[in-house]
Amino acid sequence: ASVTPNGMAVSLAINAVISVVGGVMVARTIPAVTFMFLKAGLSGRDLCKPDKESKVPESMGLVTGCVFLIVMFLFLGVAFGQHFLNPTKLFPHAAFSEYLTSLLCICCMLLLGFADDVLNLKWRYKLVLPTVASLPLLMVYYVNLGSTTVVMPKLLRPWIGLTLNIGPLYYIYMAMLAVFCTNTINIYAGINGLESGQTVVAGASVALFNIIELSSSQAFSHYFSLCLLLPFIATSLALYYHNRYPARAFVGDTFTYFSGMTFAVVAIIGHFSKTVLLFFMPQIFNFLYSIPQLFRLVPCPRHRLPRYNEKLDKVEASEAEINESEMRWWVLAALKVLHRLKLVHLRRGTGPDSGKLFINNLTLINLTLLWSGPCHEGTLTNTLLILQILSSALAFVIRYPLADLFF
Ligand code: UD1
Ligand code: MG
Repeated sequence: ASVTPNGMAVSLAINAVISVVGGVMVARTIPAVTFMFLKAGLSGRDLCKPDKESKVPESMGLVTGCVFLIVMFLFLGVAFGQHFLNPTKLFPHAAFSEYLTSLLCICCMLLLGFADDVLNLKWRYKLVLPTVASLPLLMVYYVNLGSTTVVMPKLLRPWIGLTLNIGPLYYIYMAMLAVFCTNTINIYAGINGLESGQTVVAGASVALFNIIELSSSQAFSHYFSLCLLLPFIATSLALYYHNRYPARAFVGDTFTYFSGMTFAVVAIIGHFSKTVLLFFMPQIFNFLYSIPQLFRLVPCPRHRLPRYNEKLDKVEASEAEINESEMRWWVLAALKVLHRLKLVHLRRGTGPDSGKLFINNLTLINLTLLWSGPCHEGTLTNTLLILQILSSALAFVIRYPLADLFF
């Protein structure tokens, strides 16, 4: 690639400095623009608090996303500007186009997320639009990198060989990755600090992986990823500061989409999507666990976040009501087995609800509450963030010692 190790170090140092400035900017801007957001009606009710009427400014991901873009634009000026000073060297057009399209995709998702916050888009758009937004990126991938081969596990090599070229399927996979990352973060949400917190932990994990790989033959991809991730982590951390319990700002879908697309972009351009997915283990579990509700095999209320118990000042697993006559028999049978395994909680209503059947909303947040019992909202977020950190540690074990066994 076009950058020397020295050049990378200088660029990363500059990037880190601007990122910190960006983080401070986000931290200071959020309280300053709160009244503007509230005035514009960009607010949400904090559902796990005693006073459900008090409004919290929503879509603060807009501040994070805008500052992230500003940092990246300034950084590009510095990192690529040095080439203007040395006209004898060829300008790295390929790398430049990778940066520009990455920012284009991220910017599109920021816009889509904001549109979703304001207009409440239907599910089908949430699935189609990220796919369309990733098209320019796929084109750049085709032109610059173009590799559509995947390395086969040792077990399959006698039959398939060391690598397999999956051609167009690889492009479909990459487009799906964008849809997946944006939506999995968005549905692992609902308690103060979780959306921004999980982003910071997963982002820092990918960045650590990039730093380890900086000395590998793929150094440029990892350097590229770091240049996006450092400002991303810094600005998200500042958002977390305001979003953590008790939340003074909500991130909005603006942030969850922006965040998911950033992960997808670095995974695609860096050609390390499997590793990125390893850092998404809690999100993947939450998605798989949610499938019955997402595909409406089980009723899915508008909000699946935990229920606030005022007497205890704690949150507990929230529930959806099941209409037994409308349920398919095999779904009900499967749920009963899962109930035995303590993976879901089925319950007959009592008092005015007697006869009705209830099931916990199928999210990792509620499952955690089923196992731990009611708990304080702030504690719950911390527990889930510690789980995210532990799963990142496990991801490193899988990626390094274990992957060598299989790959
Ligand atoms: C997703 C989830 C939904 C969950 C919601 C919470 C699915 C299919 N959708 O929907 O179940 O309830 O996220 O973000 O799983 N809120 C809080 N406290 C928080 C964060 C959010 O009370 O810490 C509430 C606020 O009222 C806020 C609203 O959730 O206004 C934001 O929800 P939104 O992001 O629009 O929901 P979805 O992403 O559509
Ligand atoms: Mg959301």
